[in-house]
Amino acid sequence: MAGGVVIASSISKVYPGKMTLYVFVTCLVASSGGLIFGYDIGISGGITSMDTFLQKFFPKVYYKEKHTLSNNQYCEFNSQLLTTFTSSLYLAALVASFLASAVTRTFGRRISMLGGGIIFLGGAAINGGAKDVAMLIIGRILLGIGIGFANQSVPLYLSEMAPAKLRGMLNIAFQLMITIGNFIANLVNYSTNKIEGGWGWRLGLGLAAVPAIIITVGSLFLPDTPNSLIERGHNEQAMSMLRKIRGTDDIKAEYDDLVVASKDSQLVKHPWSTLLQRKYRPQLCMSLLIPSFQQLTGINVVMFYAPVLFKTLGFGNDASLMSAVISGLVNVIATFVSIITVDKVGRRVLFLQGGVQMVISQILVGTLIGIKFGTTGQGEIPKTYAIFVVVCICVFVSAFAWSWGPLGWLVPSEIFPLEIRSAAQSINVSVNMFFTFVVAQIFLSLLCHLKFGLFYFFAAWEVAMTVFIALFLPETKNIPIEEMGLVWKKHWFWSRYVNDDTDV
Ligand code: BGC
Repeated sequence: MAGGVVIASSISKVYPGKMTLYVFVTCLVASSGGLIFGYDIGISGGITSMDTFLQKFFPKVYYKEKHTLSNNQYCEFNSQLLTTFTSSLYLAALVASFLASAVTRTFGRRISMLGGGIIFLGGAAINGGAKDVAMLIIGRILLGIGIGFANQSVPLYLSEMAPAKLRGMLNIAFQLMITIGNFIANLVNYSTNKIEGGWGWRLGLGLAAVPAIIITVGSLFLPDTPNSLIERGHNEQAMSMLRKIRGTDDIKAEYDDLVVASKDSQLVKHPWSTLLQRKYRPQLCMSLLIPSFQQLTGINVVMFYAPVLFKTLGFGNDASLMSAVISGLVNVIATFVSIITVDKVGRRVLFLQGGVQMVISQILVGTLIGIKFGTTGQGEIPKTYAIFVVVCICVFVSAFAWSWGPLGWLVPSEIFPLEIRSAAQSINVSVNMFFTFVVAQIFLSLLCHLKFGLFYFFAAWEVAMTVFIALFLPETKNIPIEEMGLVWKKHWFWSRYVNDDTDV
């Protein structure tokens, strides 16, 4: 399709540089910021399905769940209060990502990561020791603020540190950490659910301190990116940092380009209104649509509600938590597919292939559930049949894990020019959090109303987003980040907004 690989390679500048141990280690440490996000996503779903947690904090929900004799499988777990608890964090993250924008631009990416880690740590401590709902909510707000800061700064940090040829691979370390955090949370859910005395949920919430300590301590030792150092006037430091991370003294060309980008950036005093200028229309559209589409795949229905979903399919408590562990593992392993291929086959191929695979698997899941539960939500699913549904869910998760999951963070972080990078990334994070909130908030009632059609609903969105990518996303692999403006100029559609007279 127009705007594809051919264009990308024809405009690609090549700077000297290789994968150095230094850049590998710094990116690995920075990407651990993804652990806090992934861990939280996994823990929330698990503890809200634990009886002892519900009895203590949400007794009415617990009572209703136990005493409502519903035989409609689609509507069994429909509780607004509980979903509000889960999704409150995402609203906090949404607001925090705007604050993080100014911090990241003025004080550097590292300070935002450090701040995010410390605030998240505070949230984990309060949640682990929670005595009442108020403490629980305050804790969740702090967790949300921490996630807002980390998700705003880590992807930018990784994309700026990485050499262009390896940017995809190093950036996806962030998504890999999200999936690892999520998988560990599923294991913790599975084990803490078995703790006698019913305080297992406390351990699950408190253990969030571990990933928080990793990113907090890690970012104390991290250097800042050359782009950010130059932006803040530390040119000498930036030059020696470039030598160190590229493993060569031949950094003049790249350094000069960074200085030019920084000069342009300095002229911009109001990144938010600048972002609204016509020449930034492609970036603005991508920063709004990519995160919305990422959440409209329906991935977090599986991430938050896998145990509930599996219970609906007729698995017992233990088997449901175990199935969540399995889909979590598939998520981690499949992410490696994108790590290995993203800088070779490019972003578009992964987006398109993953999109098609998600559509097929969602339609299968919907149809299989529809055949057994129909529209009344009554019926029983035989074991082997239920296992087949879980397999289809895993096929869906794996497609997400090598397409929209990692690319939903990678692509926005590499397409914004320096002058609007921090602001546009905040839009990306806040839109992502907003839709995470919306999906978490409405999933259970959508399931109750749309029934198995809910899976077709997400499949329809996946068709739309795949067509969108085919038509509107230019290939960005291997292109130096401060040269990215050129891809729009050559694109069949975006060239009407960005042309040779436009300074990009
Ligand atoms: C998404 C999360 C999702 C996770 C699953 C991330 O890229 O932003 O919302 O839960 O992937 O692995």
